[in-house]
Amino acid sequence: MVGAVVRAATPGDADTIAEIWHTGWHDGHAAHVPDGLTRARTREAFGVRARARVPQTTVAVVGGEVAGFVMVVGDEVEQLFVAPEHRGTGVADVLLAEGERQVTAAGHPEPWLAVVEGNVRARRFYERCGWRDAGPLPYEVTVDGETFVSPCRRYVRAG
Ligand SMILES: CC(C)(COP(=O)(O)OP(=O)(O)OC[C@H]1O[C@@H](n2cnc3c(N)ncnc32)[C@H](O)[C@@H]1OP(=O)(O)O)[C@@H](O)C(=O)NCCC(=O)NCCS
Repeated sequence: MVGAVVRAATPGDADTIAEIWHTGWHDGHAAHVPDGLTRARTREAFGVRARARVPQTTVAVVGGEVAGFVMVVGDEVEQLFVAPEHRGTGVADVLLAEGERQVTAAGHPEPWLAVVEGNVRARRFYERCGWRDAGPLPYEVTVDGETFVSPCRRYVRAG
């Protein structure tokens, strides 16, 4: 496994985060969520979101480059994305562990996350890391006033 170092994201990371987010979102979600949502998830839209979400973002750095990121909101490990060339290397494990650490350090004993039902690779990854499927979760997302419901599963730490 390549050594990955985690640190808080800075505004200067936002463009790289947006690139990883855009690529990874389409890899894991397109065809598994409503078409309108997939159309709304443009590179530009991820640029706007990445800039706005810097304070909630932690990046993993490998060889001086940002290889992936995790965003934590309250008790939710909300976003976890790794650049294609760093998948299967253990970077994702480091980010998930850091996300869990941040949730519990903030006083929430039970971290959770939502994963799109058809995102088989991510589900397998979470299960390998000791998480379990706790049931269906229709996840509502509103983009430009239009609400989409993605078929998701709620995952929690296996206890
Ligand atoms: C999800 C993600 C963070 C996982 O990180 P990763 O480094 O790819 O994870 P790993 O390779 O360690 O583990 C993935 C598991 O799925 C397996 N896998 C790979 N491709 C698969 C596929 N098409 N179908 C089923 N399983 C698959 C791998 O073999 C591995 O299982 P194993 O450890 O039992 O062999 C990363 O793939 C990613 O960023 N994907 C795109 C964005 C995304 O979907 N994020 C999650 C949003 S909830």
